[in-house]
Amino acid sequence: MSQTPLPHLVVDRQEETHDTVTLTLEPLGRPLAPFAPGRFAMLYAFGVGEIPVSVSRISDGQGLAHTVRAVGAVSRALYGLGTGASVGVRGPFGTRWDTAAARGRDLLVIAGGIGLAPLRPLIHAVLAEPHAYGQLNVLVGARTPADLLYPDEFHAWRRPFAAVTVDRPSADWTGRVGVVTTLLGDARFTPADTTAFVCGPEVMIRATARALVHQGVPPDHIQVSLERNMRCATGHCGHCQLGPLLLCRDGPVIGYDQAEPLLTVREL
Ligand SMILES: Cc1cc2nc3c(=O)[nH]c(=O)nc-3n(C[C@H](O)[C@H](O)[C@H](O)COP(=O)(O)OP(=O)(O)OC[C@H]3O[C@@H](n4cnc5c(N)ncnc54)[C@H](O)[C@@H]3O)c2cc1C
Ligand code: FES
Repeated sequence: MSQTPLPHLVVDRQEETHDTVTLTLEPLGRPLAPFAPGRFAMLYAFGVGEIPVSVSRISDGQGLAHTVRAVGAVSRALYGLGTGASVGVRGPFGTRWDTAAARGRDLLVIAGGIGLAPLRPLIHAVLAEPHAYGQLNVLVGARTPADLLYPDEFHAWRRPFAAVTVDRPSADWTGRVGVVTTLLGDARFTPADTTAFVCGPEVMIRATARALVHQGVPPDHIQVSLERNMRCATGHCGHCQLGPLLLCRDGPVIGYDQAEPLLTVREL
């Protein structure tokens, strides 16, 4: 794992929505160690700063990709990069989605907004081995229909089971409106034999995990990805502390059995 940002070239730029872009990166020199679904990199926009961004595509022959939503100085600078621009990359960091523990079980992949980005490589991995798992369900909540990420791919995910709900429908939207947990009723899964992977805003993670436990999904089979501001990403600065955990090292993916007591205390 490199502590020095290694220069990478933006070889492809895919505009996903009005504020979100997927950048495909190739190393200009030494490559990084391989990424796994759920892990993240520190992306350095030269002269602006460095932020944690999950890997959003790993291995479908199109290279390593990160999907960035422009919310502040650094993410806006990354969003503004065109093909041929260079970016510094450190990583991979953090824990991965534990697919080994989910083998043979039904799967619920539940995303809110940009939370679909870290889950996309997991979906790719599961679709590459369809017989290793039970029923795959992909449930996505987006602010508006125009904010849905990867709409073309999403179409292909419908064959197992995939559904979207939005907060604010457009005039031509005929789909669901409301929070993502309202989609659980349409999903096909046996709660006790299900593993859930959840990523999105913390309030959505909390509500979703509670609903899943209520339906009988075991807390240690609910994996959540948590975010805190990060600086070193190597367990040294303490910026990403959540109770006894350093999320750059012990997370971002942790079991809800471990996350639940920490998420109920707002100040942690
Ligand atoms: C492990 C991890 C993986 C991430 N993966 C992605 C990803 O795949 N794609 C993506 O677009 N973003 C991702 N993020 C969030 C991203 O790192 C933040 O949006 C970014 O740090 C904001 O920095 P900025 O300089 O652009 O904005 P700032 O000026 O620092 O902040 C702008 C706004 O965003 C809020 N914010 C800052 N950092 C975070 C954070 N970590 N979580 C939530 N809100 C924050 C601030 O409170 C403020 O309201 C991830 C964060 C973590 C910790
Ligand atoms: S970011 Fe420094 S300890 Fe986690």
